[in-house]
Amino acid sequence: MSSRTKPASLSANVPVWVPQPGNRVVLAVPDTGEAGTLSGALTRRRSIREYQDKPLSLEHVSRLLWAAQGVTGVGGLRTAPSAGAIYPLKAYLIASQVSGLTPGIYRFEPDTNELAFVQKGDRRRLLFQSAMGQECVKMSPAAVLLVSWNKRMQGEFGDHAEKLILIECGHAAQNFLLEAVSLGLGGIGLAKFDADAIRTAVAFRTDEEPRYLLLAGHPGIPGK
Ligand SMILES: Cc1cc2nc3c(=O)[nH]c(=O)nc-3n(C[C@H](O)[C@H](O)[C@H](O)COP(=O)(O)O)c2cc1C
Repeated sequence: MSSRTKPASLSANVPVWVPQPGNRVVLAVPDTGEAGTLSGALTRRRSIREYQDKPLSLEHVSRLLWAAQGVTGVGGLRTAPSAGAIYPLKAYLIASQVSGLTPGIYRFEPDTNELAFVQKGDRRRLLFQSAMGQECVKMSPAAVLLVSWNKRMQGEFGDHAEKLILIECGHAAQNFLLEAVSLGLGGIGLAKFDADAIRTAVAFRTDEEPRYLLLAGHPGIPGK
C-alpha cells in the first residue's frame, strides 16, 4: 500500500482502509484565492506594520470592534467565545484618524453597539512610547486596546482565570485581524508594551489590565 492514501469517502462514514503506522492521509486544499471566504482571509492575513497616512472610516472601526467583541446571540453572547460566558474583555478604541470621530479614547459598548467617549486627544505619541517605540503604532490611524476585568473570572475559575483570559484575547484578536483583511485593511497584534506606561496613554479603569494592542490601517509603504 502507498504511504500516501486518498481520504475515505465522507459519505461512506466507514474507513475503506486500515491505516498502518507511517501512512498519510492527503487533505483537501482550501480555495485560498477566493475573495470573501474565510479561507481567503486566513491566507491573506499577515502582520502589517506600515500604514498609509489615510483615515479609517467609522464603518471600518465599527466592523473591527464588532468582529472582536460584538454581540451576536441572545443574552449577550459575542463573536469570540468566552469561558463560562463571562466576557471579561473590554475594547478601547484609540482613534487618531477616524473620519467623523474626534481623536481620543472611546470604550466599545458591545450590548448597545456604541462608543462611549472617554478622553480627548491624539494619543499616538504616548501609545508609541508605551509600545517601546514601535513605529507602526505612530503610523496606524486607529488602535484597539483589549483590557480584562479579572475579578469575576478569578471568582469563577481561580488560578485558571489568567490562562482563560489570555486565550479569549487570542480569539478576539484573531477576529479583529481577519475582519481587517476582509475590509482590505492591514492589522497587527502587539504584546510588546509597558503595562504601566500604557495607562498614561489610555485612560482605562484601575481594575482593568491591558492585554493586547491591535492596530489597523490602510496597508502601505511610508512616503508612497
Ligand atoms: C501574542 C503576540 C504578540 C505579538 N507582539 C508583537 C509585537 O509587539 N510587535 C510586533 O512587531 N509583532 C508582534 N507580533 C506579531 C508577530 O511578530 C507575527 O505574528 C509573526 O512574525 C508571524 O508573522 P505573521 O503574523 O505576518 O504571520 C505578535 C504576535 C503575537 C501572536
